[in-house]
Amino acid sequence: MFNIIKVNNEQQFNETGAGIIASLLQTNPRATLGLATGGTPVGVYKHLIELYKQGLVSFKDARSYNLDEYIGLPEDHSESYRRFMNEKLFNHVDIDPSNTHVPSGVSGDGHKAAAEYNLLLEKAGQIDLQLLGLGHNGHIGFNEPAEHLTAATHVVELDEVTRKANARYFNSIDEVPTHAITMGIGSILKAKQILLMAKGADKAEIVAKALKGPITTQCPASLLQLHPNVVVIVDQEAGGLL
Ligand code: PGA
Repeated sequence: MFNIIKVNNEQQFNETGAGIIASLLQTNPRATLGLATGGTPVGVYKHLIELYKQGLVSFKDARSYNLDEYIGLPEDHSESYRRFMNEKLFNHVDIDPSNTHVPSGVSGDGHKAAAEYNLLLEKAGQIDLQLLGLGHNGHIGFNEPAEHLTAATHVVELDEVTRKANARYFNSIDEVPTHAITMGIGSILKAKQILLMAKGADKAEIVAKALKGPITTQCPASLLQLHPNVVVIVDQEAGGLL
């Protein structure tokens, strides 16, 4: 079930996304958040920091679990997702760092790290709100289009489409890691509520496919059609084909 919110500009996009996360924390301060990286949530996190500074929201008793992490980038690498989360959100709000979780991409054994993260997720219980961006190929987290998808946290080889999209953050595509650890589709679908966000004309086609197309592992986001509670925030451009 999709509840689609079409906003008119970047500010509304960020405020609407942040507002949903903030109102969850206001009604349930101990909420478990599933968080995402990428260009899409940056403004949402910025607005959440504003709400925190205004005293309207606190992360003091919240816990967070991120979707994914590159394999092979040290945690303090400028493009690691741990560093992204610290810099874009965690360092600026009152969340307890020990309550923030990102898969470890530096353990030397990705499969073991994935299994450990999966255990953490299972112990955490249900995620109250899972924030998701959407890849141009329909990936959510780093669950890339494939014949078979994996339910649990696992190691994934990144699509060329994904590496090209993310090359904008690196000096060259050769520096983009080839593998990552990602929460699986099963873990994502277990969340109580999902908040899918997409902006820009380049996302219009995949947004329409994910929300209205056939449910197929070739478009992992289409599996969200099976979830009972998905809020979708799109701008006019990304929602242009809906
Ligand atoms: P983006 O990435 O937010 O940078 O567009 C989304 C994604 O790949 O999941």
